[in-house]
Amino acid sequence: MVDVILGLQWGDEGKGKIVDYFAPQYDIIARFQGGPNAGHTLYVEGKKMVLHQIPSGIFHQNKVNVIGNGVVLDPITLKKECEAVAAHGVDVRKNLFISERTNIIIPTHRALDKASELSKGEGKIGSTLKGIGPAYMDKTGRNALRVGDILNPNFKEQYNELRAKHQVLLNNFHFTEDISSWEEEFFEALEFLKTLNVINCEYFINDQISKGKKVLAEGAQGSMLDIDFGTFPFVTSSNTISAGVCTGLGVSPKQINEVMGVTKAYCTRVGGGPFPTELEDATGEELRKIGNEFGATTGRPRRCGWIDLVALRYACMINGVTQVIMTKADVLDAFAELQVCTAYSINGKQTKEVPFQMSKVTIEPVLRSFEGWNTDTTQIKEAAALPGTMGNYINFINSEIGAPVKYVSNGPGRDQIVPL
Ligand code: GDP
Ligand code: IMO
Ligand code: MG
Repeated sequence: MVDVILGLQWGDEGKGKIVDYFAPQYDIIARFQGGPNAGHTLYVEGKKMVLHQIPSGIFHQNKVNVIGNGVVLDPITLKKECEAVAAHGVDVRKNLFISERTNIIIPTHRALDKASELSKGEGKIGSTLKGIGPAYMDKTGRNALRVGDILNPNFKEQYNELRAKHQVLLNNFHFTEDISSWEEEFFEALEFLKTLNVINCEYFINDQISKGKKVLAEGAQGSMLDIDFGTFPFVTSSNTISAGVCTGLGVSPKQINEVMGVTKAYCTRVGGGPFPTELEDATGEELRKIGNEFGATTGRPRRCGWIDLVALRYACMINGVTQVIMTKADVLDAFAELQVCTAYSINGKQTKEVPFQMSKVTIEPVLRSFEGWNTDTTQIKEAAALPGTMGNYINFINSEIGAPVKYVSNGPGRDQIVPL
């Protein structure tokens, strides 16, 4: 049986904290897509940790954490992360497993990401520059190196061949930066990777499932960054939605049980691309300040706006969301009035559907106003103690998106979550 936790917006919904909260109920926590573009924040004994590739169940004893075949893995980042979690007493050789089919990000992928972004000028995606796009291009282009390849005696040859292909592209981009120090670090990190548990993940996971073990699949990014259904071309390069669990771990759709979608009580986006409810004013600035909305991976300020129920309803539909977890509700504590977007107005016509290419049309959000709760909710532990005005806000959201909000997160701490 596999349950899923994934983002319903443009990423950074608080997936890391939520996975960490639910991890004790599972045997295996498995990342199924994305790579070091992700930054999942959680608090361990009060100390902040940001995970990029290691699943957010790593701090729980006796849990198996898996990096699935759908992930693109940067060995350099992985080595650093392993060292950081080891400092908290975690033995990654005991509870971290990596699929041999996981694709590897090589230094020239990062260089290509940078060169490609530079070439786009104003139209750039705002990528995290971690090499994600080029690495997935080599996967679908059938060129990639995978974790299982690193033990091949001819791995260096395979690497040089791919690197040479990349060099031609880099020359076309007139990219001249010296990346030799990245390569040195990369080969050092590969030696470290060889010391970790590399497994045939699809047999492992299915075997565990048949023994009755429970798997929690952890998504990265968000549904609106999905390569197929997101705000293309301003998206990431993987399927971030629940369907990605099957291809990213090698499990059948029949195994998927609960799909838990995480959304903020408002909305943020980092990088370029359409964002219909964006607030480029003092209110947006206040959301950024109170919500501490700065990227966990790149430190960039996040764009902020009101919750978008059109996009959220779409995300619930394509993911088959069975329950919603609303994070950062406490960030709205200070607002006397809240807005929610119930429809888009495009060329004077109202719609509740996400258009084909959001970036090519001008969208005016149709907003509905709600009274704020205007009280400190951060210490609340039970649903009955939540303000009635928050109840109204949530009930309306439930009725619009077609899935029920089952948890409200009211602070970054492990214990700051209220089941409804
Ligand atoms: P992820 O990528 O989805 O895991 O989210 P990030 O870690 O990038 O960003 C979420 C941020 O919000 C982190 O700094 C979390 O510590 C923080 N956070 C998560 N849940 C809550 C919440 O309920 N309230 C507040 N105030 N912060 C939260
Ligand atoms: P988590 O898992 C927020 C955004 C980038 C950019 C676009 C493409 O922490 O929620 P990429 O590097 O993937 O080619 O960038 O996607 N992006 C994210 N935004 N949270 C993330 O991950 C993101 N990962 C990528 O800002 O707009
Ligand atoms: Mg993040």
